[in-house]
Amino acid sequence: MSKIDTRLNVSPVPPDEIFALNGAYAVDPHPQKVSLGVGVYRTDDGKPWPLPVVQKAEKELVVDDDLFRHEYTAIEGDVPFLRNCAGSDGKQGEEEAKARIGSVQTVAGTGANHLGALFLAHHMKPPTVWLSNPSWANHQTIWELAGVPRKTYPYYHAATRSFDFEGMMSSLESEAQEGDVVLLHACAHNPTGLDPNKEQWVAIADLCERKKLFPFFDSAYQGFASGSVEEDAWAVRYFFNNKPDMEMCVAQSFSKNFGLYGQRVGAFHYCTNRASTTLRDIVVNNLCHLIRGEFSMGPRVGCSIVKKVLTSEELTADWHQDLQVMSSRIKTMRKALYNELVRLQTPGTWEHIIQQNGMFSYTGLTPKQVYALKDKYHIYLLKSGRASISGLSQKNVAYVAQAIDDVIRNEN
Ligand code: LMR
Repeated sequence: MSKIDTRLNVSPVPPDEIFALNGAYAVDPHPQKVSLGVGVYRTDDGKPWPLPVVQKAEKELVVDDDLFRHEYTAIEGDVPFLRNCAGSDGKQGEEEAKARIGSVQTVAGTGANHLGALFLAHHMKPPTVWLSNPSWANHQTIWELAGVPRKTYPYYHAATRSFDFEGMMSSLESEAQEGDVVLLHACAHNPTGLDPNKEQWVAIADLCERKKLFPFFDSAYQGFASGSVEEDAWAVRYFFNNKPDMEMCVAQSFSKNFGLYGQRVGAFHYCTNRASTTLRDIVVNNLCHLIRGEFSMGPRVGCSIVKKVLTSEELTADWHQDLQVMSSRIKTMRKALYNELVRLQTPGTWEHIIQQNGMFSYTGLTPKQVYALKDKYHIYLLKSGRASISGLSQKNVAYVAQAIDDVIRNEN
């Protein structure tokens, strides 16, 4: 091979596993192929589901014929949209939220995580960010690009396939330092589908307060764990309301809960402590400085749809209904896969599939089994064994269970 003439100093980087898998699935001509890779909602026919409430909002937006619909927004984004993103739980909550939360529109959840990481890297210089082990792989990339050293805290207990609360607490207790960031998944943990219970959240909040750690919530699946946006905001609200002397932030995505994946709708919220509310505007101002230098402002169309829904009581009720449809279909498919594996007496235990929640199941399948599923059965999931449950349907669940049974029994 001839030497490449370049001034660059680049070496190859591995492709993103989730999107590489998605691409491989798309070009696979096999008639029984199944996509359990990327975290997107699919109907029982394996089709995307533009939410009925989104279609209604889109129609209303066309009728509104707003002359300004393609104009620039403010750098911080669409202000009425932002006011409705954070929500609140009551009158007093509303006042406090207004005073303490500085919000800006972002390029969906990835953009919110990235902006938050960049902002903290510039203005807080955390010695370390603590990510759960395992976590969404992109968290590593995002914090690496922000130049913040990364460490992980135990999260998953492989032998019992459960949340390793003790491991998490004792590792943060003994190793995390004042000023470190702790990244927490607000609900429907990606990839394990295992969340702390309320008592455990309270203990995590106490630990963060006592050790002066900075909680950074990633809220990408609100509404997917319980079916209720209120219930799924419990941990974030608990930290905000019960630890008012602590600062924290929230990266919020509307990709999954509105089915607006490609529209890139999200927000980043910085919550000051109650003694520093004058900081709020300065924070927003600095976030705007970063936004302006990077993408000027968030995109408009998807955010107009979310705003339309969140500013109408009727449409909000419809949205809650749509979330119920998605979360209950996923629960139904968990049960269906579990039932099939039990019926086949597939070696192993499978209760964890119905105990986990949200979009994913951390199946416990090994990388070798995962490769066999792809090679032999054209079933695509992440090599960690993470399966996006909504890729299952009444039509393919028996095929998938049979395939899992086969790759486990015939492994050698
Ligand atoms: C996933 O984890 O599959 C989704 O969050 C999609 C993504 O951006 O990685």
